[in-house]
Amino acid sequence: MTAIERATVHAFAWLGVACTVGLLLAVLLLAPRAGAVLGPLTYGRWMPVHLNLVLYGWLALPLVALLLRAFLPEDGWGGGTAVQTWSASLGVGAAAWLAGQSSGKPFLDWDGVARVLFLANLLFLAGVLAAGLVRRRRAGEARRPGLWTLWGALLTVPAALAFATSPGTYPPVNPATGGPTGASLLGSTLCVIALFAGTPWLLGLSPSRPQRGGRGVRLFGALALHAAFFAAVSRGEPSHREPLQIAAVATLLVWAWLLPRWLGGFAWPAESRPWLLAFLAWGGLLLATAVPMFLPGLLDRIKFTNALVGHAHLAMAGMATSFAALLLAVLNQETRLAGVLGDRIGFALWHTGNGVHVTALAAAGALEAVDPGIVFRGDWPITALYSLRAAAGAAMLTAAGRWIVRSSGRLKARRNTA
Ligand code: HEM
Repeated sequence: MTAIERATVHAFAWLGVACTVGLLLAVLLLAPRAGAVLGPLTYGRWMPVHLNLVLYGWLALPLVALLLRAFLPEDGWGGGTAVQTWSASLGVGAAAWLAGQSSGKPFLDWDGVARVLFLANLLFLAGVLAAGLVRRRRAGEARRPGLWTLWGALLTVPAALAFATSPGTYPPVNPATGGPTGASLLGSTLCVIALFAGTPWLLGLSPSRPQRGGRGVRLFGALALHAAFFAAVSRGEPSHREPLQIAAVATLLVWAWLLPRWLGGFAWPAESRPWLLAFLAWGGLLLATAVPMFLPGLLDRIKFTNALVGHAHLAMAGMATSFAALLLAVLNQETRLAGVLGDRIGFALWHTGNGVHVTALAAAGALEAVDPGIVFRGDWPITALYSLRAAAGAAMLTAAGRWIVRSSGRLKARRNTA
């Protein structure tokens, strides 16, 4: 199995496990007493498992595959081991969270031995990528200063994770902050936009039609200007009610126009195009809804309600998942897994399921905004919406199951005919 195939199979497997846990959580919210059957494996222990498996398993492994494709020579030496090490450290993490060992910081739950192993895994991946570049140079390929710069920049990831997961850095609930400011949301979103914008280059895609030169310079110039604006507005401890903070979030809307134009200028393989469209559609919806959601008056009413959980699924199960699938579809064009993500039924189940999921949660959040006690009383509209969400989750799990079955079928079929 090639490193890309292995990363793809592991990513699908983590998605399957994460969606199964998501469905368990959805059922527990409907029938909290059912939790007694699980003994010490309470809702609070499954929650970090769901969150971290979607992030570090399903969403991260396609990016690991992208790095392996960009850095390693043809033979991909070391890539498969890097993927196995990644999944092994995530498996240890999941066991630790279920055993109740967690830092308590969402998405930074790494603690104790699991933390050490996950950081070591990141350094191992860095070593495999550097060795790949060295071997390509020795084989007579041209120098790759751009990839070395990216490698250096990526080294900040283990350093940042070591800092943020450290128990000494800040407690799980940070008393020094009242939540994200407009500027902090702008800064983190710009990093994600830079990642989306740089991906066609790492994938080696060519332009879809003859282009005027300097397109990339103009796009990344605009990103740099936006980052300078971020630096200017992120001073001090502003309130999210200040007009400048609201304006900072609103400036992100310009990327709903620029990013589709930029990505649309590349020749995406046929199988990946529905995923590109899905990515742009979910991303546009995310930006269009996130800006009004940040407005004082609305934010104060829906913060900590189901509307925010809906927002998280719109961002991660909608936009980021479509991006992960887009990457996998392009990376696997010439592997034995080509065509797995072209499954129309899986595509329809995932996006319809997530659309219903997000709509049900938005409706529940709207009810909570009017009557904050409605969830705790378990009134029938909430039960109905939670049931709808669980059914939508079952559809999403079915889609993940189809991708797993199709991948293993293709690997087996090609092995038999080889
Ligand atoms: C079968 C599909 C899924 C189901 C049934 C499901 C269900 C759930 C449930 C019940 C929660 C806890 C909400 C609460 O405590 O009120 C949750 C949280 C979350 N899920 Fe999922 N989920 C699914 C798929 C996904 C996927 C694929 C992703 C990301 C790629 C994802 C990302 C998240 C995030 C980020 C949260 C935290 C939300 C917050 O606290 O604001 N989920 N999910």
